[in-house]
Amino acid sequence: MTPCFRYRSNSLHAEDVALKAIADAVGTPFYCYSTAALTGNYSAITRSFSSSDHLLCYSVKANSNQAVLKTLAGLGAGADIVSQGELHRALAAGMPAERTVFSGVGKTREEMIFALGHNILCFNIESKCELVLLNEIAVAAGRRAPVAIRINPDIDAGTHEKISTGRARDKFGISWRDAQEIYAYAASMPMLEIKGIDMHIGSQILELEPFETACRLMAKLVVKLRGQGHAIEHVDIGGGLGIAYRDSDREPETIEDYSALVRRIFEPLKCRIILEPGRFIAGNAGVLVTRVIYIKHSGVFHFVIVDAAMNDLARPALYDVSHEIRPVIEPDPRRRIMTADVVGPVCESGDCLAKNYSLPEPKSGDLLAIMCTGAYGAVLSGTYNTRRLVSEVLVHQDRFSVVRERLSYEAIIDLDALADWQS
Ligand code: LLP
Repeated sequence: MTPCFRYRSNSLHAEDVALKAIADAVGTPFYCYSTAALTGNYSAITRSFSSSDHLLCYSVKANSNQAVLKTLAGLGAGADIVSQGELHRALAAGMPAERTVFSGVGKTREEMIFALGHNILCFNIESKCELVLLNEIAVAAGRRAPVAIRINPDIDAGTHEKISTGRARDKFGISWRDAQEIYAYAASMPMLEIKGIDMHIGSQILELEPFETACRLMAKLVVKLRGQGHAIEHVDIGGGLGIAYRDSDREPETIEDYSALVRRIFEPLKCRIILEPGRFIAGNAGVLVTRVIYIKHSGVFHFVIVDAAMNDLARPALYDVSHEIRPVIEPDPRRRIMTADVVGPVCESGDCLAKNYSLPEPKSGDLLAIMCTGAYGAVLSGTYNTRRLVSEVLVHQDRFSVVRERLSYEAIIDLDALADWQS
């Protein structure tokens, strides 16, 4: 866990700001991000790849708050996007289009026209139909479209079923067996310009082995494709490097070992390496702060009912995972440890942020911090049960600023309209 969130005089701080002070000022629940943690994680990657020609395209989907994107843009990050909306967000935060790659299996005509019009670095193509449509759009625009083919290496990265993307039965990419044929096809299209090759085998991957197998396959393909006359300038190896979510978790492989592996495989090919990390940069750079509403005992079962819920943090409900939970104010060490389900107010039993979780028995009104929620936290939040959209705060040293306001009830209701015949 990052030292950017640590206790000082028994009070959990984000950098030099007490989380309690933020809670007093903005209410709960809220996400709090640390600029130093974002910067540190970003720099750890670029440092470990510094001896290679590389480009870091931050995976915007992990955390697309403008303040987070702006922080990373300031460090030189490009963007990995999967929708026109994400391109709008990345551009608005100052991430340059010429450092943007566009992935995703369902890019629409409108999205491709928009991205081509902005001169993005590369389209990561995931099907033959997409290739045909992009060429058609490029012909109409009179502008060549830069492409890489996303290869599906048929590798099981050993991660959660819902975030595994590199197996033959996953919807992503084009089978490595069809790679040569599809590259020949792309080369025959007048307005496509082959730039590279791409992969992304899944997320929260804790072992290096799947990366190694996939990278070796990609390197072999690069040699073959170059031999067939294709100019493969870059290899985009996607994202996926995992992080530790619980103090008890085994530490994942380090970024240094990951980079050594990747460089060993690709450096002899003299190609540029594109990286698309999301979780590694944003994950441990954020916490979700919530307040205990009630403690409920029901026979042998105990519940800590908090004011954050599955609409604020969907990961536990979606992937059956639990994050480390820390008291914002460290209780007396003699406080009794209780084992409880930490649950939100949403009317679904799936609204459980942590199951059978042991923690010092909190009291109503206590603040808890759900750790490592900077990635795939706020981006997956919503207003289910007409709960106000969770707010987000960015800390920089001893300052904090609200970077997304909690939506008011009026604003939520105003998103709807009555039908013509009702007003
Ligand atoms: N590149 C592509 C094409 C992706 O689809 C993804 C993530 C990434 C890069 C970034 O992967 P990362 O470095 O963050 O692992 N909501 C899930 C994770 C979904 C990941 C989707 N794709 C979760 O909360 O675990």
